[in-house]
Amino acid sequence: MYPPERILMGPGPSDVHPRVREALARPLLGHLDPDFTPLLDEIAGGLRTAFGTANRVTFPVSGTGSAGMEAALVNLVEPGEEVVVGVAGVFGGRMAEVARRAGARVHTVEAPWGRIVEPEAFVEEVARRRPAVAALVHAETSTGVHQPVGEIGAALAGGDTLLLLDCVTSLAGVEVAVDAWGVDVAYAGTQKCLSVPPGLAPVTFSDRAVAKVRARQAPVQSWYLDLTLLLGYLDAEGGRTYHHTAPIAMLYGLAEGLALVAEEGLEERWARHARLGGQLQAGLVDLGLELLAQEGHRLPQLTTVALPEGVDEAAWRRRLLVEHGLEVGAGLGDFAGRAWRIGLMGHTCAERNVLLLLDALERLLGEPR
Ligand SMILES: Cc1ncc(COP(=O)(O)O)c(C=O)c1O
Repeated sequence: MYPPERILMGPGPSDVHPRVREALARPLLGHLDPDFTPLLDEIAGGLRTAFGTANRVTFPVSGTGSAGMEAALVNLVEPGEEVVVGVAGVFGGRMAEVARRAGARVHTVEAPWGRIVEPEAFVEEVARRRPAVAALVHAETSTGVHQPVGEIGAALAGGDTLLLLDCVTSLAGVEVAVDAWGVDVAYAGTQKCLSVPPGLAPVTFSDRAVAKVRARQAPVQSWYLDLTLLLGYLDAEGGRTYHHTAPIAMLYGLAEGLALVAEEGLEERWARHARLGGQLQAGLVDLGLELLAQEGHRLPQLTTVALPEGVDEAAWRRRLLVEHGLEVGAGLGDFAGRAWRIGLMGHTCAERNVLLLLDALERLLGEPR
């Protein structure tokens, strides 16, 4: 199969930069080759910058964003511990489920679809339950909501609860400030604002999070994701010993993606997403459409928009794909069947794509119905 040309404006994956594509095709080295292992240090450095952290334990987990979610939760949570999770969409719900499967007693703080988890309610629940872990989604890809984190981190500072943040859709698209916000563990995915194919999950663990993992009574239920075993390969101090075969080609791709972030500058990259996401959202409103994420908390890189009553959203999405090569995402959960999720992530986040989508949508809206 040779894939057709597409512009990936869905909730991820996003378009891959040509330099990343070229990096993926470079000659393979062994994952213990002395010429390969320095790349792991380079990647760790790039990820520290992107996450806004000095955490020593910062690396890409082999697997997609969900592997990062599992790695964070199965390492941090011991059976019987309390965990508080903010749930305002699919991915908060998924974190709660993973924590339950890790044996946690899970308490959720819920918000309606399209709204933030109210920081005060979240902090109150943490104060009441005194959980081992409190978890939130920074960029809820199912709703397009940008969750405020700084004030929650400040309120939890000095306590024993570890703060866990899902940054799958936020990393390198909007500000992520792990250290400044007091986040202990964060995870992401490569296929969103980093514009690298899906397959790696960058994670970062604070020293106190690593200490909690090392002090566990029960072994981590997952051998593959056990941080203490992974550190044998990742932690240069102890030498690099085999745990599992590192996905070499994907690591070349991630290193190139991070080099592109460094060349653009992280703040310039956030500004590009903010400017073009704002332009797209203003254009959709000008077309008479309703944005579904709470005003003041809209992600620039992921827009949820309601379609007019009576439109067959799946048929319109299909036409965008066939007639323009444009992929947008269907609504999920409460938004299923009546909304789209439009991504402007990483390499896809370009003015020509904003204009192409608005133009195509204007034509569809102008057709007799
Ligand atoms: C916020 C969020 N968390 C977790 C995930 C899961 O990541 P993946 O599909 O790469 O496993 C996604 C995927 O879209 C996501 O958007």
